[in-house]
Amino acid sequence: MCGIIGYVGSRQAKEILIDGLTRLEYRGYDSAGLVTLNDGAVIVKTEGKVDELKKRLENKPVDGKIGIAHTRWATHGEPSERNAHPHSDEKRQIFVVHNGIIENYKHLKDELIKKGHKFASDTDTEVLAHLIEEDYKGNLEQAVASALSLVRGTYGLAVISCLETDKIVVARSGSPLLVGLGNDENIVASDVSAIIRYTKEVVYLEEREIAVVKKDGFHSFSGKSAKDRVALVEWEIEQAEKGGFPHFMLKEIFEQPKVVEDSIRGRLIEEDGLAKLGGLEEVKDRLGKCERLIITACGTAYYAGLVGEYLFEEYGGLPTEVEYASEFRYRKPIIERDKTAFLAISQSGETADTLAAVCEAKRKGALVLGIVNVVGSTIARETDAGVYNHAGPEIGVASTKAFISQLAVLFLFTLMIGRQREMSFVTGRKIAGHIKRLPNQINSILTQDEKIKEIAQKYAKYNDFLYISRKYNFPIALEGALKLKEISYIHAEGYPSGEMKHGPIALIDENFPTIAIIPKDSVYEKTISNLEEIKARKGKIIAVATEGDEEIQNVADDVIYIPETLEMLTPIFSVVPLQLLAYYIAVIRGKDVDKPRNLAKSVTVE
Ligand code: M6R
Repeated sequence: MCGIIGYVGSRQAKEILIDGLTRLEYRGYDSAGLVTLNDGAVIVKTEGKVDELKKRLENKPVDGKIGIAHTRWATHGEPSERNAHPHSDEKRQIFVVHNGIIENYKHLKDELIKKGHKFASDTDTEVLAHLIEEDYKGNLEQAVASALSLVRGTYGLAVISCLETDKIVVARSGSPLLVGLGNDENIVASDVSAIIRYTKEVVYLEEREIAVVKKDGFHSFSGKSAKDRVALVEWEIEQAEKGGFPHFMLKEIFEQPKVVEDSIRGRLIEEDGLAKLGGLEEVKDRLGKCERLIITACGTAYYAGLVGEYLFEEYGGLPTEVEYASEFRYRKPIIERDKTAFLAISQSGETADTLAAVCEAKRKGALVLGIVNVVGSTIARETDAGVYNHAGPEIGVASTKAFISQLAVLFLFTLMIGRQREMSFVTGRKIAGHIKRLPNQINSILTQDEKIKEIAQKYAKYNDFLYISRKYNFPIALEGALKLKEISYIHAEGYPSGEMKHGPIALIDENFPTIAIIPKDSVYEKTISNLEEIKARKGKIIAVATEGDEEIQNVADDVIYIPETLEMLTPIFSVVPLQLLAYYIAVIRGKDVDKPRNLAKSVTVE
């Protein structure tokens, strides 16, 4: 949550900082600010989005070849100009931008107040600026190090000072930070999307690392040189731009056929009915001996995990349970060393709860695996082994293409462990053949875009929606409801169809439409009965059904068709119309689809 960008080099910092903030805005967008150093400091901050900051900067001379900037998702203190970063000491000599939470800030603030410090904001971050000032004895990095020794919590931070204008001091603990290495310039950021326009060479800061970044160098307290740690970013700048689409979310939905292609490329061996996941090769034998799998994740990634549970148990023969990472981390989970495998699923690879669950599982001796999209992210580095999604940067706050790629990887994972256990060659080859066809088939769903838009027009006026399904598509009911909630702020609930009679059916009337995911699968007849019950109570029904199913038209008011495939693969189709439906309803209602209120792309605080 929140975005950090910092620049030191031979160019004017302002343009790079603003461009970086624009690209980082999906990480938080309730206020923004920057500071540059030239002859003294220029600080500009505003409440609201980066566009507000741009307006504030118009015709304002903001010179300086070093600067730091921040876009905020409020934790401590309301979104306002005074709480926007950068924060500084009273003399306005030391400036800090910070992601994370300083948990003991109240105690530290009281101590500083006793020493005479006066605070200008309600944030936890401001404490850092005062602590650094207090400890400053002519060397900024030493002052940052000694300030951080007093701090409990999480941070990714960048610090500059009028007293030493050639350096940015950076540090991380539980919140990502990286340094993009350029020619005669270096850029600090919390996310690669902010720097790929300038350089592809990055150094990811390690946990609890402190480093000094100058225009011609990077010096870490750990003593490790930048040279041995440079990673090359594979993402292209175009992937982080809208490319003619009105919103990132729509672009990302339309990228999905390609994303699935990229996720399975080189990993599917159709003729042998196998999947080869390079990242898991080393631990494959250990995994083969595991008797139980725990999947953990948050939000949309958690729903992918739920699909995984059905897959692994039915086709992998592996007892599987799925748990919200925020719950797992506080339970006393039973993990049997060498017998329990643990799988974390995360787009960003930085979600605080998922990361904490990973650390806990590791501590308890599980084989810890990951399905992660962002290369080099903390979860990717903390797990014993894992698979990258290859979905490219996902900018829309509502996850779409990352989810699809998580499903694609889970299909491959199922094939891999299934064939390792009981799955026959014939079944493996059949599944592999169907997986191969997925990208083209998803394309065919996208061609119904106009029709889905019309359905959205018809239903956008309703304030409550129910999403139901069974078996493999029950998690898709949850995901469909989450998509609608997140971007349109409409109340939506997902339920297993079989639960209707246990309560939710009481909600049904002509003003409470139901979205039913009902492919022609092993539970089709059961769901049809549920729909009859809804219809009998005057409930409107939008069905997502299999091509060729005409019977569904007798019960549903509107039908969106998805191609036929194996039952286990249907979630990757059924989610697509639900993404589009949520998107168009939100657009019709005039919502900011890519930056929904109160949300941020990656939840790096608890
Ligand atoms: O980066 P992660 O996959 O770990 O993020 C998990 C959730 O925060 C994320 O899926 C969230 O629910 C999205 N906003 C869903 O659209």
